[in-house]
Amino acid sequence: MTAHGSLFKLFGVPFWHIKAKDNFNAEELIQEAHDIQAKDKKRIVSNRGGWQSGFLEQPDCPLAWEYIRSCLESADGIPLRHKIDQGWLNINKSGHYNVVHTHGDGRLACVFYLTDGHRKLGILNTLCTDQAHLQILDEGECFYPICEAGDLIMFPSKLPHWVESHSEETERITYAFNISFLEIGAPENKKLRENVHVS
Ligand SMILES: [Fe+2]
Repeated sequence: MTAHGSLFKLFGVPFWHIKAKDNFNAEELIQEAHDIQAKDKKRIVSNRGGWQSGFLEQPDCPLAWEYIRSCLESADGIPLRHKIDQGWLNINKSGHYNVVHTHGDGRLACVFYLTDGHRKLGILNTLCTDQAHLQILDEGECFYPICEAGDLIMFPSKLPHWVESHSEETERITYAFNISFLEIGAPENKKLRENVHVS
């Protein structure tokens, strides 16, 4: 709980930041990303000027998928029954950005950095407050995580977020994934559990 005069903020927002693991191989993963870019059609979703792939599953990006799974299943991963949903690849060059968007409700948005993030991702907290309250808070509830190549972050999928204009000569390459939590024992989840990790 943090105090701001007589104003107290009672609740926090869950946010995971898994730092690059020893098995992060930037060269191989960037090659896989470029191979996908060479074959996949570009989509325009939140990206402005950048390249975004269609939905990707494990067979489409096996190296990235394996790395993400290794992070999620590590000691600092998610200690709950979960499933990686579809992902997509983002490649931004200088001047490219992503407009404000969410990943829907009820799961986690995950970003995996193949290159340094240059602190361009902004996340707005609308869980513990709403727009009117943000104005009362004055300072806002905006967070710019410091992410390096190999890092993986996760946050509630309903939080609005964006990527500010890339200003480097080198490419900015990230995967975005959605992660769902699964209930234990529900027969209707049997198919979903094909990719599940049970801790
Ligand atoms: Fe996103």
